[in-house]
Amino acid sequence: MKAWGMKDTSPVAAASAADLRARYLILVERALLNAIHGEPAMEGFVRRAAMRLRHPWQTRAWAPRDFWPVKAHTMIGVKRLAHLRRLVEATLTEGIPGDYIETGVWRGGACILMRAVLAAYGVADRRVFVADSFEGLPRPDAAKYPADRRDRLFKFDELAVSEAEVRRNFEAYGLLDDQVVFLKGLFKDTLPKLKGHPFALIRLDGDMYESTLDALTSLYDGVSPGGYVVVDDYGILGCCRQAVHDFLGGRGLSPCIDDIDGQGVWWRKE
Ligand SMILES: C[S@@+](CC[C@H](N)C(=O)[O-])C[C@H]1O[C@@H](n2cnc3c(N)ncnc32)[C@H](O)[C@@H]1O
Repeated sequence: MKAWGMKDTSPVAAASAADLRARYLILVERALLNAIHGEPAMEGFVRRAAMRLRHPWQTRAWAPRDFWPVKAHTMIGVKRLAHLRRLVEATLTEGIPGDYIETGVWRGGACILMRAVLAAYGVADRRVFVADSFEGLPRPDAAKYPADRRDRLFKFDELAVSEAEVRRNFEAYGLLDDQVVFLKGLFKDTLPKLKGHPFALIRLDGDMYESTLDALTSLYDGVSPGGYVVVDDYGILGCCRQAVHDFLGGRGLSPCIDDIDGQGVWWRKE
């Protein structure tokens, strides 16, 4: 850019489009993680939550960004967020058709990143579906899903983020438009409407057995061949892991499930 008739010698002028795209996406990731201003010191509720959930990190030196951050727009952490970016980019470079969805969005950060990748690559014909109750997790239905019987996440108000707040978060990044579709309600009610809808990537982050199974049941068949499945809590929540294996086992499927960071996993649909 030339200003006031002066020759522009700034390094930005020489940067390639690919370089600027990468810088933009890394900046969005850092903003989503609140890594720029830094998370405030751990607040009481986060510590209490870790204790009540007997979270393995409760006794470890604390890394607030790893677990229920106070301000950040996502709780999925540096590795899972960067990994998500790479997978969405891969769907574009490999030409895997379909939209994107996260089931269980909390403050919306992972969905905001997926929309940012589409923006960075100038993709205008794919959408990001944002599915959540926007009222927190449901009470376990222990009669139907015994694996959830001990789940107490529904008690945490901190996990209930309204649709209005998630919309505001998208807006803060300049990424709220008609390529973002909000699906408000419990997965068992909203997701069946998407059966067969083509997805390039589905990201499941509903924590519970029921939430994971409902998402797989409604969305898996729509995942394009070569498309990606990401399950956020597979590594730390036994009920989520069991739902994945009950679903895959019921279909006679055994994809190669890869670890991301000890918590999240992913696989590619053949
Ligand atoms: C762990 S948080 C998601 C974190 C988020 N992906 C992020 O990037 O930080 C879990 C979310 O799943 C939602 N949720 C869980 N089970 C659900 C269900 N059966 N129906 C609708 N929403 C559900 C909760 O409301 C909550 O927002």
